[in-house]
Formats: sequence, C-alpha cells, structure tokens
Amino acid sequence: MIEASTEIVFNKRVARNTFFMGFRSGPIVNAAKPGQFVMMQVRSGIDPLLRRPFSICGVNGDVLLILYRVVGYGTAILSEKKPGDLIQVLGPLGKGFKFPEKAVQPIMVAGGMGIAPLIFLSLALARKDQHFLAGYGISADVVPLDQLGIVGLSPAIATEDGSQGHHGRVTDLLDSVLSTAKETSFAIFTCGPLPMLQSVRRIALGKNIPCQVSLESTMACGVGACQGCAVKKASRFSGAYAHVCQDGPVFDAGILDWEVM
Ligand SMILES: Cc1cc2nc3c(=O)[nH]c(=O)nc-3n(C[C@H](O)[C@H](O)[C@H](O)COP(=O)(O)OP(=O)(O)OC[C@H]3O[C@@H](n4cnc5c(N)ncnc54)[C@H](O)[C@@H]3O)c2cc1C
Ligand code: FES
Repeated sequence: MIEASTEIVFNKRVARNTFFMGFRSGPIVNAAKPGQFVMMQVRSGIDPLLRRPFSICGVNGDVLLILYRVVGYGTAILSEKKPGDLIQVLGPLGKGFKFPEKAVQPIMVAGGMGIAPLIFLSLALARKDQHFLAGYGISADVVPLDQLGIVGLSPAIATEDGSQGHHGRVTDLLDSVLSTAKETSFAIFTCGPLPMLQSVRRIALGKNIPCQVSLESTMACGVGACQGCAVKKASRFSGAYAHVCQDGPVFDAGILDWEVM
C-alpha cells in the first residue's frame, strides 16, 4: 500500500455525469492489479474528512486511470480538478480478481460504473474469446471506450430504455451468451448495482458457473481499521463477516450471504 501525492494528467467528462481521470503515480501503477481500488482525498484539509474509494480502471505508462460518476459532494469536487492539480491517493488496496484458466471463457458483466474494474481485468486478460456485456439506464450513460483511448474492447450494450444496444437488462445479454454456447466452460466476473449482482449470481448458480463479484460498500478507512464495510459470509464459512476493503472488494459469489446483502 502506497500513499502518494499524485499529479492529475487529465480529468474529462465522457458521459452523463461521468468522468475519466488519469493521475501520475508510478509506484501505485506498478503494484496495481485488476479489481483493486484506490482511496482518494478529493481535497486537502478536513472537508470532506473521508477519502473516497474508486476502482482502478486501468494503467497507461505511469498514469493510473479511474472512471467515476458524480453522485454527491466528494465526486463533485473531484470533477472540478484540472491537469496539474495534486491529489493524495492511497493504494492499491484490496484483493482483485483471480484470473481464469485458458480453457475457461471469461464473461464480464458490468452495470453502470461497474464497468471500471472490468475494463482493467479485460485488458489484462487480453483474451480474444472473452465476452464483455455492459448495461446502462439510458444511452447518455454509456461510456464510449474509444473516447477513453481504450482499444480492443467493444462491449455488447444493453440500455433499459432501449436507446442504445439491446432494449432491456444486461442479464438478458448474459442469458443469451450462455444459451448459445452450452458446451463451453465459463467464468463470470461482475460489478455493478446490488440488484444486478443478485441476478447475475442467481444465473451463475443455476448453471454452476464460477462467479466473482466486485462489491461496493460505504468505506470510511479502506484499510480494515473501521469495520464499516463488513458483509455477512454464508454460514458454512468460518468467521461471520468479511471486510470489503481487505477481504474484497472481489469475492467468490458463494462466500457471501446474499439473503442479507
Ligand atoms: C471498492 C469501491 C470501488 C468503487 N469504484 C467506483 C468507481 O470505479 N467509479 C465510481 O463512480 N464509483 C465507485 N465507487 C463508489 C464511490 O466510492 C462513491 O460513489 C463515492 O464515494 C461517492 O462520494 P460522494 O462524496 O460524491 O458521495 P456522497 O455525497 O458521500 O454520497 C452521495 C450518494 O452516493 C452514495 N455513496 C457514497 N459512498 C458510496 C460508496 N462507497 N458506494 C456506493 N455508494 C456510495 C451515498 O449513499 C449517497 O446516496 C466505488 C466504491 C467502492 C467501495
Ligand atoms: S472501510 Fe474501514 S474496515 Fe473496511
């Protein structure tokens, strides 16, 4: 874990309320693995007091990339940062994705900003046979990866209002991939809103497909000190709780107690 004052290289709007930021931090970049996250102090001083967590979306040379949606106070401050501004970053944090074996075909299932860690994973796997499925509310939310300078990834898109790609949910796309290739061994990697994760996990369970989920939770410290990010484990696992910041954010779906999430 490294704490560094990093220089923002760019911070640009790429979709509705959605920004793509790069900041220079060689040491964090060198240690970063897909699925890990950083805690960012969006402004110096004590307002806001808490750092905000963001998945690592990728790396480019010595620049670390994040993709974020403006949802409140901290992300609004972040969206006003300019190239050359300094920002305090702690990372990389948490446990990332376990890579699938060669014989297993990866399927990324992203909902909204859940696309961020899956971009990093997908680029790192660099598998020609991987499926990348991304669901959004409306077309204005769709993150155009080509505008991010990300080449070689073109997710199949679903929008709930039908304004781009498949009209419906990203889980419809998942059902369709799974129904057209019955003999293939798959592994599912997913990140997004909880109801979507619940559906993806149900589909994976029904077909006996291993599924890794990247969870979001409210995080005060990001390093295991506050206990604020505890999630309940399924009863057959030892220890009642796991901490999203240290044991995750990526978990095998079967470890968690989905009834109380
Ligand atoms: C491991 C991890 C990785 C994340 N990766 C990304 C990412 O790549 N891109 C991205 O846009 N967001 C990501 N998030 C969520 C992001 O941290 C929150 O959106 C951000 O902290 C909100 O800060 P704020 O001050 O703008 O919101 P606040 O003003 O604090 O709150 C505004 C709204 O956002 C909700 N919120 C606040 N914190 C979180 C949180 N940690 N998770 C979910 N909802 C929250 C609040 O309940 C409230 O409804 C991640 C969260 C975690 C835990
Ligand atoms: S965020 Fe503090 S223990 Fe996980």
